[in-house]
Amino acid sequence: MRTQIVAGNWKMNCNLDESLHLLNALKLKDFSKADVEVVIAPPFTNLYPIHQNLNDSSIKISAQNINENEEGAYTGEISPDMLKSVGVEYVIIGHSERRAIYNESDELLAKKVTAALKHDFKIMFCIGEMLDQRKADKHFDVVKEQLEKGLFHLSASEMKQVVIAYEPVWAIGTGETASPEQAQDIHQYIRQVLAEQYNQDVADQTSILYGGSVKPNNAREIFAKKDVDGGLIGGASLDADSFAEIVMSF
Ligand code: PGA
Repeated sequence: MRTQIVAGNWKMNCNLDESLHLLNALKLKDFSKADVEVVIAPPFTNLYPIHQNLNDSSIKISAQNINENEEGAYTGEISPDMLKSVGVEYVIIGHSERRAIYNESDELLAKKVTAALKHDFKIMFCIGEMLDQRKADKHFDVVKEQLEKGLFHLSASEMKQVVIAYEPVWAIGTGETASPEQAQDIHQYIRQVLAEQYNQDVADQTSILYGGSVKPNNAREIFAKKDVDGGLIGGASLDADSFAEIVMSF
């Protein structure tokens, strides 16, 4: 049985007070009824205070990015060891905003993946096509290439640390979502690519999340699809009620 995961990507939202407020609201929710790993990805500055305030909550903490180097003269960057030292378990790598706005290439992302694994993080690796690529029917080729270049240097056992988040760029923050059928088609394809590259066991064990305008009113339908193992949630994760409703959609 694959792990079902709902992860909230807070992006560059919430100062310290707001982050703690949101955390406290989430801690009041009873996630124990859903068979789901709940993950939140606050901004770097709030990771440690959030960790300190988790108490006995089962919520896991993710960083939104990681640097590929161990330490040194990389002004403004955050190393794997720094993240480890403040209680981070997951890292998001390759979010489309990092790829598009900060020009993070497949080659760089592959290095970040290696660095994160060396420090034993679980990885949420994001892939997904842009609107023109979808219109040109290139989405299958695009995600395959992103997988090959970003992840396929890993061994089968290393892949067990990786969660894939399929996020069509045209659906992120736009209010538009892939239909449950579109999500299922591409998730199934991703699983097939994993089976071809590794083996059926890796394909069956890898959690594949959908991201892109998941809201309380569409989560249930999307999560019901066979190859969708959860979601990476942006906007709706900033509201505790909405996020909890999405978690409980399983
Ligand atoms: P969204 O963001 O839910 O606001 O579309 C998803 C994401 O970027 O991970």
